Amino acid sequence: MNISVLGLGYIGLPTAAMLAQAGHVVYGYDVNGALLEELRAGRVSIGEPEVRALTQAAIGTGHLLVRDVVPRADAYIVCVPTPTVGNRPDLRCVEDAAARIAAVAPRGSMIVLESTVPPRTTERLFEAAFASAGKPIDEMYLAHCPERVLPGAIVHELRNNARIVGGRRPEDARVVRKLYESFCKGDITETDCVTAELSKVVENTYRDVNIAFANELALLAEELGVDVWETIALANRHPRVNILAPGPGVGGHCIPVDPHFLSNANPFVTELIQTARRVNHRMPYRIAHRVCEFLRGDVVGKKVAIFGAAYKRDVDDARESPALDIFALLRERGIETTMYDPLVRSCGVPLASSTQEALREADVLVIATDHTQFASLEPAEVMALMRGRAIVDARRMLDADRWRRAGFDLYVLGEKPPVAAARAAVA
Ligand SMILES: NC(=O)c1ccc[n+]([C@@H]2O[C@H](COP(=O)([O-])OP(=O)(O)OC[C@H]3O[C@@H](n4cnc5c(N)ncnc54)[C@H](O)[C@@H]3O)[C@@H](O)[C@H]2O)c1
Repeated sequence: MNISVLGLGYIGLPTAAMLAQAGHVVYGYDVNGALLEELRAGRVSIGEPEVRALTQAAIGTGHLLVRDVVPRADAYIVCVPTPTVGNRPDLRCVEDAAARIAAVAPRGSMIVLESTVPPRTTERLFEAAFASAGKPIDEMYLAHCPERVLPGAIVHELRNNARIVGGRRPEDARVVRKLYESFCKGDITETDCVTAELSKVVENTYRDVNIAFANELALLAEELGVDVWETIALANRHPRVNILAPGPGVGGHCIPVDPHFLSNANPFVTELIQTARRVNHRMPYRIAHRVCEFLRGDVVGKKVAIFGAAYKRDVDDARESPALDIFALLRERGIETTMYDPLVRSCGVPLASSTQEALREADVLVIATDHTQFASLEPAEVMALMRGRAIVDARRMLDADRWRRAGFDLYVLGEKPPVAAARAAVA
Protein backbone atom coordinates (compact mmCIF):
# COMPACT_ATOMS: atom_id res chain seq x y z
CA MET A 1 0.00 0.00 0.00
CA ASN A 2 1.01 3.66 -0.39
CA ILE A 3 0.66 5.38 2.98
CA SER A 4 1.12 9.04 3.92
CA VAL A 5 2.10 9.69 7.52
CA LEU A 6 1.51 13.28 8.67
CA GLY A 7 3.65 14.42 11.62
CA LEU A 8 7.06 12.77 12.02
CA GLY A 9 7.65 13.21 15.76
CA TYR A 10 7.97 10.71 18.61
CA ILE A 11 4.97 8.74 17.31
CA GLY A 12 4.75 9.43 13.58
CA LEU A 13 8.35 8.70 12.67
CA PRO A 14 8.60 5.22 14.22
CA THR A 15 5.10 4.43 12.92
CA ALA A 16 6.16 5.41 9.40
CA ALA A 17 9.34 3.32 9.73
CA MET A 18 7.39 0.34 11.06
CA LEU A 19 4.94 0.51 8.14
CA ALA A 20 7.87 0.73 5.73
CA GLN A 21 9.47 -2.30 7.34
CA ALA A 22 6.17 -4.16 6.89
CA GLY A 23 6.52 -3.64 3.13
CA HIS A 24 4.41 -0.55 2.48
CA VAL A 25 5.67 2.48 0.59
CA VAL A 26 5.47 5.28 3.13
CA TYR A 27 5.55 9.02 2.49
CA GLY A 28 6.50 11.03 5.55
CA TYR A 29 5.20 14.59 5.68
CA ASP A 30 5.81 17.20 8.35
CA VAL A 31 5.40 20.99 8.54
CA ASN A 32 8.90 21.24 10.01
CA GLY A 33 11.16 21.75 6.99
CA ALA A 34 14.37 21.42 9.03
CA LEU A 35 13.23 18.01 10.27
CA LEU A 36 12.55 16.88 6.69
CA GLU A 37 16.05 17.99 5.67
CA GLU A 38 17.58 16.04 8.56
CA LEU A 39 15.65 12.91 7.60
CA ARG A 40 16.61 13.24 3.96
CA ALA A 41 20.22 13.26 5.14
CA GLY A 42 19.49 10.08 7.14
CA ARG A 43 19.77 11.84 10.51
CA VAL A 44 17.26 10.89 13.21
CA SER A 45 17.21 13.08 16.29
CA ILE A 46 14.95 10.85 18.47
CA GLY A 47 17.18 9.42 21.20
CA GLU A 48 15.89 5.81 21.29
CA PRO A 49 18.45 3.65 19.46
CA GLU A 50 15.78 1.23 18.16
CA VAL A 51 13.79 4.11 16.64
CA ARG A 52 16.95 5.48 15.02
CA ALA A 53 17.96 2.09 13.60
CA LEU A 54 14.47 1.27 12.28
CA THR A 55 14.07 4.71 10.67
CA GLN A 56 17.52 4.74 9.10
CA ALA A 57 16.90 1.26 7.68
CA ALA A 58 13.51 2.35 6.27
CA ILE A 59 15.04 5.44 4.63
CA GLY A 60 17.99 3.38 3.40
CA THR A 61 15.80 0.82 1.63
CA GLY A 62 13.78 3.56 -0.05
CA HIS A 63 10.53 2.43 1.58
CA LEU A 64 10.25 5.60 3.66
CA LEU A 65 10.30 8.73 1.52
CA VAL A 66 10.24 12.25 2.91
CA ARG A 67 7.82 14.66 1.23
CA ASP A 68 7.21 18.45 1.42
CA VAL A 69 3.53 18.05 0.54
CA VAL A 70 0.97 15.39 1.38
CA PRO A 71 0.85 13.02 -1.60
CA ARG A 72 -2.12 11.00 -2.83
CA ALA A 73 -2.10 7.64 -1.12
CA ASP A 74 -4.23 4.62 -0.23
CA ALA A 75 -4.05 5.48 3.47
CA TYR A 76 -3.29 8.52 5.64
CA ILE A 77 -2.12 8.32 9.23
CA VAL A 78 -2.15 11.51 11.29
CA CYS A 79 0.28 11.84 14.23
CA VAL A 80 0.35 15.60 14.81
CA PRO A 81 0.50 17.31 18.22
CA THR A 82 -2.67 17.97 20.21
CA PRO A 83 -1.53 20.26 23.04
CA THR A 84 -3.58 22.36 25.40
CA VAL A 85 -3.34 26.13 25.57
CA GLY A 86 -4.56 27.57 28.85
CA ASN A 87 -5.81 24.05 29.67
CA ARG A 88 -8.04 24.01 26.60
CA PRO A 89 -7.45 21.64 23.65
CA ASP A 90 -5.66 23.19 20.69
CA LEU A 91 -6.67 21.12 17.66
CA ARG A 92 -5.28 23.38 14.94
CA CYS A 93 -2.67 20.83 13.82
CA VAL A 94 -5.36 18.16 13.33
CA GLU A 95 -7.54 20.65 11.43
CA ASP A 96 -4.62 21.52 9.19
CA ALA A 97 -3.80 17.85 8.55
CA ALA A 98 -7.46 17.07 7.83
CA ALA A 99 -7.64 19.89 5.26
CA ARG A 100 -4.46 18.69 3.52
CA ILE A 101 -5.76 15.13 3.34
CA ALA A 102 -9.19 16.20 2.12
CA ALA A 103 -7.53 18.12 -0.72
CA VAL A 104 -5.76 15.05 -2.15
CA ALA A 105 -7.40 11.84 -0.85
CA PRO A 106 -8.87 9.69 -3.61
CA ARG A 107 -12.17 7.87 -3.19
CA GLY A 108 -11.83 4.80 -0.96
CA SER A 109 -8.85 6.10 1.05
CA MET A 110 -8.30 5.09 4.66
CA ILE A 111 -7.85 7.99 7.06
CA VAL A 112 -6.62 7.28 10.56
CA LEU A 113 -6.18 9.82 13.33
CA GLU A 114 -3.67 8.52 15.88
CA SER A 115 -3.22 11.78 17.81
CA THR A 116 -4.93 11.85 21.20
CA VAL A 117 -8.05 14.02 20.97
CA PRO A 118 -11.10 14.99 23.04
CA PRO A 119 -14.15 12.76 22.48
CA ARG A 120 -16.06 13.52 19.26
CA THR A 121 -13.12 15.22 17.52
CA THR A 122 -12.28 12.73 14.74
CA GLU A 123 -15.67 12.70 13.04
CA ARG A 124 -16.29 16.42 13.61
CA LEU A 125 -13.01 17.68 12.14
CA PHE A 126 -12.71 15.27 9.21
CA GLU A 127 -16.36 15.61 8.21
CA ALA A 128 -15.87 19.41 8.20
CA ALA A 129 -12.64 19.20 6.18
CA PHE A 130 -14.18 16.90 3.55
CA ALA A 131 -17.30 19.05 3.37
CA SER A 132 -15.09 22.09 2.69
CA ALA A 133 -13.22 20.17 -0.01
CA GLY A 134 -16.55 19.20 -1.57
CA LYS A 135 -15.89 15.47 -1.19
CA PRO A 136 -18.31 13.00 0.43
CA ILE A 137 -16.75 11.59 3.60
CA ASP A 138 -18.89 8.46 3.12
CA GLU A 139 -16.57 7.49 0.27
CA MET A 140 -13.64 7.29 2.76
CA TYR A 141 -12.82 4.89 5.59
CA LEU A 142 -12.27 7.02 8.70
CA ALA A 143 -11.05 5.76 12.09
CA HIS A 144 -9.43 6.88 15.29
CA CYS A 145 -6.66 4.54 16.37
CA PRO A 146 -5.06 5.98 19.50
CA GLU A 147 -1.40 5.42 20.21
CA ARG A 148 -0.36 4.17 23.63
CA VAL A 149 3.36 3.43 23.33
CA LEU A 150 5.72 3.80 26.26
CA PRO A 151 8.51 6.28 25.50
CA GLY A 152 11.73 4.33 25.94
CA ALA A 153 10.26 1.18 24.39
CA ILE A 154 8.48 2.63 21.36
CA VAL A 155 9.49 0.10 18.71
CA HIS A 156 8.67 -2.92 20.84
CA GLU A 157 5.34 -1.44 21.89
CA LEU A 158 4.35 -0.33 18.38
CA ARG A 159 4.75 -3.91 17.29
CA ASN A 160 3.22 -5.67 20.28
CA ASN A 161 0.68 -3.45 22.03
CA ALA A 162 -3.02 -4.14 21.79
CA ARG A 163 -4.73 -1.55 19.58
CA ILE A 164 -8.20 -0.06 19.38
CA VAL A 165 -9.63 0.84 15.98
CA GLY A 166 -12.61 3.15 16.33
CA GLY A 167 -14.41 3.42 13.01
CA ARG A 168 -16.85 6.10 11.90
CA ARG A 169 -18.92 3.14 10.70
CA PRO A 170 -18.35 -0.57 11.47
CA GLU A 171 -16.99 -1.15 7.94
CA ASP A 172 -14.45 1.68 8.43
CA ALA A 173 -13.07 -0.14 11.50
CA ARG A 174 -12.97 -3.43 9.61
CA VAL A 175 -10.99 -1.96 6.71
CA VAL A 176 -8.54 0.01 8.88
CA ARG A 177 -7.98 -3.02 11.09
CA LYS A 178 -6.35 -4.80 8.12
CA LEU A 179 -3.78 -2.03 7.80
CA TYR A 180 -2.83 -2.37 11.49
CA GLU A 181 -2.66 -6.15 11.20
CA SER A 182 0.11 -5.65 8.65
CA PHE A 183 2.57 -4.51 11.36
CA CYS A 184 0.94 -4.97 14.78
CA LYS A 185 1.08 -8.31 16.56
CA GLY A 186 -1.10 -7.22 19.51
CA ASP A 187 -4.85 -7.78 19.80
CA ILE A 188 -6.86 -5.34 17.70
CA THR A 189 -10.33 -4.41 18.90
CA GLU A 190 -12.91 -2.67 16.75
CA THR A 191 -15.25 -0.05 18.16
CA ASP A 192 -16.69 3.34 17.22
CA CYS A 193 -14.73 6.60 17.01
CA VAL A 194 -15.99 8.21 20.21
CA THR A 195 -15.39 5.13 22.33
CA ALA A 196 -11.85 4.87 20.97
CA GLU A 197 -11.20 8.57 21.68
CA LEU A 198 -12.62 8.32 25.18
CA SER A 199 -10.78 5.11 26.07
CA LYS A 200 -7.39 6.65 25.20
CA VAL A 201 -7.99 9.79 27.23
CA VAL A 202 -9.34 7.71 30.10
CA GLU A 203 -6.16 5.61 30.21
CA ASN A 204 -3.97 8.66 30.79
CA THR A 205 -6.44 10.28 33.14
CA TYR A 206 -6.51 7.10 35.21
CA ARG A 207 -2.74 7.36 35.62
CA ASP A 208 -2.93 11.06 36.52
CA VAL A 209 -5.53 10.37 39.20
CA ASN A 210 -3.57 7.39 40.52
CA ILE A 211 -0.33 9.41 40.75
CA ALA A 212 -2.20 12.26 42.46
CA PHE A 213 -3.40 9.73 45.04
CA ALA A 214 0.20 8.55 45.56
CA ASN A 215 1.38 12.16 45.91
CA GLU A 216 -1.33 12.95 48.42
CA LEU A 217 -0.35 9.84 50.38
CA ALA A 218 3.32 10.91 50.29
CA LEU A 219 2.54 14.24 51.91
CA LEU A 220 0.24 12.63 54.44
CA ALA A 221 2.80 9.94 55.29
CA GLU A 222 5.46 12.59 55.90
CA GLU A 223 3.18 14.22 58.46
CA LEU A 224 2.41 10.88 60.07
CA GLY A 225 6.10 9.94 60.16
CA VAL A 226 5.47 6.87 58.03
CA ASP A 227 7.33 5.76 54.90
CA VAL A 228 4.94 6.08 51.95
CA TRP A 229 7.07 3.83 49.74
CA GLU A 230 6.79 0.96 52.18
CA THR A 231 3.09 1.72 52.68
CA ILE A 232 2.35 1.64 48.95
CA ALA A 233 4.42 -1.52 48.48
CA LEU A 234 2.40 -3.21 51.22
CA ALA A 235 -0.95 -1.94 49.93
CA ASN A 236 -0.04 -3.14 46.42
CA ARG A 237 0.32 -6.68 47.75
CA HIS A 238 -3.46 -6.69 47.76
CA PRO A 239 -4.27 -8.46 44.47
CA ARG A 240 -6.60 -5.70 43.30
CA VAL A 241 -4.64 -2.60 44.39
CA ASN A 242 -2.03 -0.92 42.19
CA ILE A 243 -0.96 2.50 43.45
CA LEU A 244 1.67 4.23 41.33
CA ALA A 245 4.74 6.05 42.66
CA PRO A 246 4.74 9.58 44.08
CA GLY A 247 7.11 12.11 42.54
CA PRO A 248 7.82 15.78 41.84
CA GLY A 249 4.80 16.11 39.54
CA VAL A 250 3.59 14.64 36.27
CA GLY A 251 5.13 15.52 32.92
CA GLY A 252 5.22 14.45 29.30
CA HIS A 253 3.10 15.18 26.32
CA CYS A 254 0.16 13.06 27.45
CA ILE A 255 -0.67 12.52 31.12
CA PRO A 256 -0.79 16.16 32.28
CA VAL A 257 -2.56 17.19 29.06
CA ASP A 258 -5.21 14.56 28.36
CA PRO A 259 -7.27 14.97 31.57
CA HIS A 260 -8.09 18.49 30.37
CA PHE A 261 -9.77 16.92 27.33
CA LEU A 262 -12.26 15.38 29.76
CA SER A 263 -12.64 18.27 32.18
CA ASN A 264 -13.26 20.63 29.26
CA ALA A 265 -15.94 18.30 27.93
CA ASN A 266 -17.92 18.95 31.11
CA PRO A 267 -16.33 20.87 34.03
CA PHE A 268 -19.27 20.08 36.32
CA VAL A 269 -19.01 16.30 36.37
CA THR A 270 -15.21 15.99 36.39
CA GLU A 271 -14.30 17.23 39.87
CA LEU A 272 -12.12 14.25 40.72
CA ILE A 273 -10.14 14.66 37.49
CA GLN A 274 -9.63 18.37 38.06
CA THR A 275 -8.59 17.88 41.67
CA ALA A 276 -6.04 15.23 40.68
CA ARG A 277 -4.56 17.63 38.14
CA ARG A 278 -4.23 20.30 40.85
CA VAL A 279 -2.60 17.88 43.30
CA ASN A 280 0.02 16.90 40.72
CA HIS A 281 0.50 20.47 39.55
CA ARG A 282 1.33 21.51 43.13
CA MET A 283 4.15 18.98 43.60
CA PRO A 284 6.95 21.11 42.08
CA TYR A 285 6.00 23.83 44.60
CA ARG A 286 6.41 21.31 47.38
CA ILE A 287 9.87 20.32 46.14
CA ALA A 288 10.92 23.97 45.71
CA HIS A 289 9.71 24.63 49.25
CA ARG A 290 11.87 21.78 50.58
CA VAL A 291 14.89 23.28 48.82
CA CYS A 292 14.20 26.65 50.43
CA GLU A 293 13.91 24.98 53.84
CA PHE A 294 17.42 23.59 53.36
CA LEU A 295 18.62 27.08 52.43
CA ARG A 296 17.01 28.38 55.65
CA GLY A 297 15.25 31.34 54.12
CA ASP A 298 18.37 33.17 52.99
CA VAL A 299 18.20 32.10 49.37
CA VAL A 300 19.79 34.95 47.43
CA GLY A 301 23.23 34.02 46.11
CA LYS A 302 22.65 30.35 46.91
CA LYS A 303 23.11 27.75 44.24
CA VAL A 304 20.98 24.70 43.46
CA ALA A 305 21.78 21.93 40.98
CA ILE A 306 18.82 20.06 39.49
CA PHE A 307 19.62 16.63 38.10
CA GLY A 308 17.17 15.57 35.40
CA ALA A 309 15.16 17.70 32.98
CA ALA A 310 13.29 14.80 31.38
CA TYR A 311 9.81 14.11 32.67
CA LYS A 312 10.68 10.49 33.43
CA ARG A 313 13.53 8.04 33.72
CA ASP A 314 15.82 7.37 30.76
CA VAL A 315 13.96 9.41 28.14
CA ASP A 316 15.16 12.53 26.30
CA ASP A 317 11.76 14.26 26.40
CA ALA A 318 11.35 17.26 28.73
CA ARG A 319 7.90 18.37 27.57
CA GLU A 320 5.76 19.49 30.52
CA SER A 321 8.47 18.16 32.83
CA PRO A 322 8.01 19.04 36.52
CA ALA A 323 11.80 19.54 36.65
CA LEU A 324 11.31 22.67 34.53
CA ASP A 325 8.69 23.96 36.97
CA ILE A 326 11.07 23.40 39.88
CA PHE A 327 13.79 25.22 37.94
CA ALA A 328 11.48 28.21 37.28
CA LEU A 329 10.25 28.34 40.88
CA LEU A 330 13.79 28.40 42.28
CA ARG A 331 14.94 31.03 39.78
CA GLU A 332 11.91 33.19 40.66
CA ARG A 333 13.10 33.15 44.27
CA GLY A 334 16.49 34.51 43.21
CA ILE A 335 18.34 31.19 43.55
CA GLU A 336 21.09 30.52 41.05
CA THR A 337 19.88 27.23 39.57
CA THR A 338 21.66 24.94 37.13
CA MET A 339 20.20 21.92 35.45
CA TYR A 340 21.89 18.81 34.14
CA ASP A 341 20.44 15.97 32.06
CA PRO A 342 22.56 13.42 30.21
CA LEU A 343 19.79 12.67 27.67
CA VAL A 344 17.82 15.85 27.01
CA ARG A 345 19.31 17.97 24.24
CA SER A 346 17.25 21.10 24.69
CA CYS A 347 14.36 22.06 26.93
CA GLY A 348 14.10 25.84 26.84
CA VAL A 349 16.52 26.42 29.73
CA PRO A 350 20.32 26.27 29.60
CA LEU A 351 21.70 22.86 30.53
CA ALA A 352 25.05 22.25 32.21
CA SER A 353 27.35 20.11 30.09
CA SER A 354 28.50 17.83 32.90
CA THR A 355 27.65 16.72 36.43
CA GLN A 356 30.77 18.56 37.59
CA GLU A 357 29.70 21.85 36.03
CA ALA A 358 26.23 21.59 37.57
CA LEU A 359 27.42 20.56 41.03
CA ARG A 360 30.28 23.01 41.45
CA GLU A 361 29.62 25.19 44.55
CA ALA A 362 26.00 24.00 44.77
CA ASP A 363 24.31 24.29 48.17
CA VAL A 364 21.53 21.82 47.35
CA LEU A 365 21.25 18.99 44.83
CA VAL A 366 17.74 18.11 43.62
CA ILE A 367 17.11 14.72 41.99
CA ALA A 368 14.16 15.52 39.75
CA THR A 369 14.46 12.57 37.34
CA ASP A 370 15.68 9.08 38.22
CA HIS A 371 17.84 8.48 35.14
CA THR A 372 19.76 5.22 35.50
CA GLN A 373 23.02 7.14 35.05
CA PHE A 374 22.43 9.03 38.30
CA ALA A 375 22.58 5.77 40.26
CA SER A 376 26.34 5.76 39.77
CA LEU A 377 26.84 9.12 41.49
CA GLU A 378 29.50 8.76 44.17
CA PRO A 379 28.89 10.61 47.46
CA ALA A 380 32.59 11.51 47.90
CA GLU A 381 32.84 13.00 44.41
CA VAL A 382 29.61 14.96 44.83
CA MET A 383 30.73 16.22 48.23
CA ALA A 384 34.06 17.40 46.81
CA LEU A 385 32.24 19.57 44.27
CA MET A 386 29.34 20.95 46.32
CA ARG A 387 29.50 23.79 48.80
CA GLY A 388 26.55 22.47 50.83
CA ARG A 389 25.54 19.02 52.00
CA ALA A 390 21.81 18.99 51.23
CA ILE A 391 19.97 16.77 48.77
CA VAL A 392 16.29 16.76 47.85
CA ASP A 393 15.51 13.38 46.31
CA ALA A 394 12.08 13.73 44.73
CA ARG A 395 12.26 10.23 43.20
CA ARG A 396 13.71 8.19 46.09
CA MET A 397 16.50 7.23 43.75
CA LEU A 398 19.57 7.47 45.97
CA ASP A 399 20.51 4.95 48.62
CA ALA A 400 19.56 7.28 51.49
CA ASP A 401 21.51 5.42 54.20
CA ARG A 402 24.69 5.47 52.16
CA TRP A 403 24.43 9.17 51.36
CA ARG A 404 23.59 10.04 54.95
CA ARG A 405 26.52 8.00 56.22
CA ALA A 406 28.71 9.99 53.80
CA GLY A 407 27.58 13.17 55.57
CA PHE A 408 24.70 14.41 53.41
CA ASP A 409 21.47 15.84 54.76
CA LEU A 410 18.83 14.13 52.64
CA TYR A 411 15.12 14.85 52.15
CA VAL A 412 13.37 12.02 50.35
CA LEU A 413 9.80 12.62 49.19
CA GLY A 414 7.38 10.57 51.26
CA GLU A 415 10.06 8.98 53.38
CA LYS A 416 9.82 8.46 57.11
CA PRO A 417 12.15 11.14 58.50
CA PRO A 418 15.40 9.67 59.86
CA VAL A 419 15.54 9.46 63.65
CA ALA A 420 17.93 12.43 64.06
CA ALA A 421 15.82 14.69 61.83
CA ALA A 422 12.64 13.61 63.62
CA ARG A 423 14.21 14.46 67.01
CA ALA A 424 15.38 17.84 65.67
CA ALA A 425 11.88 18.54 64.35
CA VAL A 426 10.35 17.76 67.75
CA ALA A 427 12.95 19.89 69.56
N1 LIG B 1 4.88 10.89 22.63
C1 LIG B 1 4.15 9.93 23.17
O1 LIG B 1 4.64 9.15 23.95
C2 LIG B 1 2.69 9.73 22.80
C3 LIG B 1 2.05 8.55 23.21
C4 LIG B 1 0.73 8.35 22.84
C5 LIG B 1 0.07 9.32 22.11
N2 LIG B 1 0.70 10.47 21.71
C6 LIG B 1 -0.05 11.45 20.94
O2 LIG B 1 0.43 11.40 19.60
C7 LIG B 1 0.36 12.73 19.02
C8 LIG B 1 1.72 13.12 18.49
O3 LIG B 1 2.62 13.16 19.59
P1 LIG B 1 4.19 13.20 19.39
O4 LIG B 1 4.77 12.96 20.74
O5 LIG B 1 4.60 12.36 18.25
O6 LIG B 1 4.38 14.75 18.98
P2 LIG B 1 5.71 15.44 18.42
O7 LIG B 1 5.62 16.86 18.81
O8 LIG B 1 6.91 14.63 18.80
O9 LIG B 1 5.57 15.31 16.83
C9 LIG B 1 4.55 15.90 16.11
C10 LIG B 1 5.08 16.27 14.73
O10 LIG B 1 3.99 16.77 13.99
C11 LIG B 1 4.45 17.87 13.21
N3 LIG B 1 3.31 18.69 12.81
C12 LIG B 1 2.70 19.70 13.48
N4 LIG B 1 1.65 20.15 12.77
C13 LIG B 1 1.60 19.42 11.64
C14 LIG B 1 0.74 19.41 10.52
N5 LIG B 1 -0.29 20.25 10.45
N6 LIG B 1 0.98 18.54 9.51
C15 LIG B 1 2.04 17.69 9.59
N7 LIG B 1 2.90 17.65 10.64
C16 LIG B 1 2.67 18.50 11.64
C17 LIG B 1 5.45 18.57 14.10
O11 LIG B 1 6.35 19.37 13.36
C18 LIG B 1 6.15 17.36 14.76
O12 LIG B 1 7.28 16.95 14.04
C19 LIG B 1 -0.18 13.63 20.11
O13 LIG B 1 -1.57 13.74 20.00
C20 LIG B 1 0.15 12.88 21.38
O14 LIG B 1 -0.71 13.21 22.44
C21 LIG B 1 2.01 10.68 22.04
